Amino acid sequence: MTINIIRNGKKATFKVVQKDETLLQVLTEIKTTQDASLSFASGCRSSVCGSCAMRVNGKEVLACAYKPESGDIIEPLKNVPLVRDLVVDVEKALSFNKVAKAWAVSPEALPSVSPEQAEVNEVQSDCILCGACYSACPVYAVNPEFIGPFALTRNWRYVSDVREADVAGKIDAVQTNGVWDCTLCGECVPVCPQGIAPKSDIDMLRNKSNVLGYMDPKYANFGGGLDFGAPSF
Ligand code: SF4
Ligand code: SF4
Ligand code: FES
Repeated sequence: MTINIIRNGKKATFKVVQKDETLLQVLTEIKTTQDASLSFASGCRSSVCGSCAMRVNGKEVLACAYKPESGDIIEPLKNVPLVRDLVVDVEKALSFNKVAKAWAVSPEALPSVSPEQAEVNEVQSDCILCGACYSACPVYAVNPEFIGPFALTRNWRYVSDVREADVAGKIDAVQTNGVWDCTLCGECVPVCPQGIAPKSDIDMLRNKSNVLGYMDPKYANFGGGLDFGAPSF
C-alpha cells in the first residue's frame, strides 16, 4: 500500500507491505527501512500518553491506535507550530491549562465524595492531553488566544467537583477567550480518543457562568426588551 506523508508542506509517498499494523508501526517501519530522517512523536504505543496524535485524511487520530489504509494522507496536527514532519510544538496549547486554572483547589477539610458525585467528572479526568480537539477546533483561525477545548474541559472537571474550593475563580478565568468564544460546532467531540465531549462541558460552563452572574459579552449591551418606538394612531 502507499502512505502519503506531508513533510514540511510537501507530499512524500512511501510504499509499504500492508499488514495488520497501526500507523505508528508503519511510520516506524518507514523510518527504519526507507528514510531515517522521518520525524514523528510517540511514547506509550498504547493510547495512554497522547504524544502520537496526527491527522489522517484531515481527521485527528492517535497513530498508535489507527490502522492505515492505502492512499492515506498523513499530516501533523493543526493550530500548533510545526517543528518537523509530524512533530509539533504543543507548549502554547498546554499553557492554556494555566490560563483556565485547570487544577484542584482543595478546602482544608476535604469532604468525602459519593460514587455518584465521582461519576460526574470521571470522563473528563481521562483526558490524555493529545491535542486532537485543539487541532480540530476552527476558532483558532480567528482567535489564537482561545483557551480551547481540552483546557475548558479540564476547568469543568474541577468546577463540577464538589470538593473544589475555588469554583468562582475558575469560572472567572474562562470568561475572556473562553466559554463565549466557542461556537459549539462540535468538531472537538468525534476526534477525542477518550470519549470526552468538550462541547458539552463548555455548554455546562456557560450555564454555570450565567448562574454566577456572567453573560455572553455579545449580549452585554442588550437592554432586555425590544424598542418598537412610539405608537402611531
Ligand atoms: S465546540 Fe467549541 S471548542 Fe469544540 S471545536 Fe467547536 S468551537 Fe472549538
Ligand atoms: S479532550 Fe480528548 S482530544 Fe482533547 S486533549 Fe483530551 S484526550 Fe485529547
Ligand atoms: S504513543 Fe502514546 S498515545 Fe500513542
